[in-house]
Amino acid sequence: MDSSEVEAVFQSYGRVCTGEQFFVDFYDYFMSSSQTIKDQFRDTDMKQQRHLLRNGIMQLILYARGMPDTKLKQLGQSHSRHGYNISPEWYSLWLDALMQAVSKHDPEYDATLDAQWRRVLKPGIDLIRDAY
Ligand code: HEM
Repeated sequence: MDSSEVEAVFQSYGRVCTGEQFFVDFYDYFMSSSQTIKDQFRDTDMKQQRHLLRNGIMQLILYARGMPDTKLKQLGQSHSRHGYNISPEWYSLWLDALMQAVSKHDPEYDATLDAQWRRVLKPGIDLIRDAY
């Protein structure tokens, strides 16, 4: 992957992740994409979950930067059929909700940056999804 793309996404994440609202909006968008997804977080402490996701997205970016896949493999396990049982088809809704939140919070968002985000996160998301 082109390292300037990873850098652009890293910078964009730096602009959006500063406050809590990015993560609040992400879960609003994600949960309103389907009732089944909303149900997955029925018993979840969302404040804690937003904190964990902040790190999770960073892990996806670091993986694209060449970091080892140890953390993502753990997420693959926890999300698999042996864990939270997260159906592989839900990951595209996850990514769409994330891009909706980026578009709201990054003043530099445009179609190029959107495509860069999707390309940069894809290998990490595939790794988690394919552990199903
Ligand atoms: C928990 C990240 C996709 C549902 C977590 C945690 C992280 C995380 C860091 C907390 C650590 C853990 O429990 O292992 C991610 C990332 C995703 C992703 C980076 C995309 C690649 C999804 C999708 C769903 C989902 C598509 C579908 C609804 C959950 C649930 C939990 C969880 C239900 C546990 C909540 C609880 O503890 O009550 N995720 N996740 N995740 N995730 Fe994901």
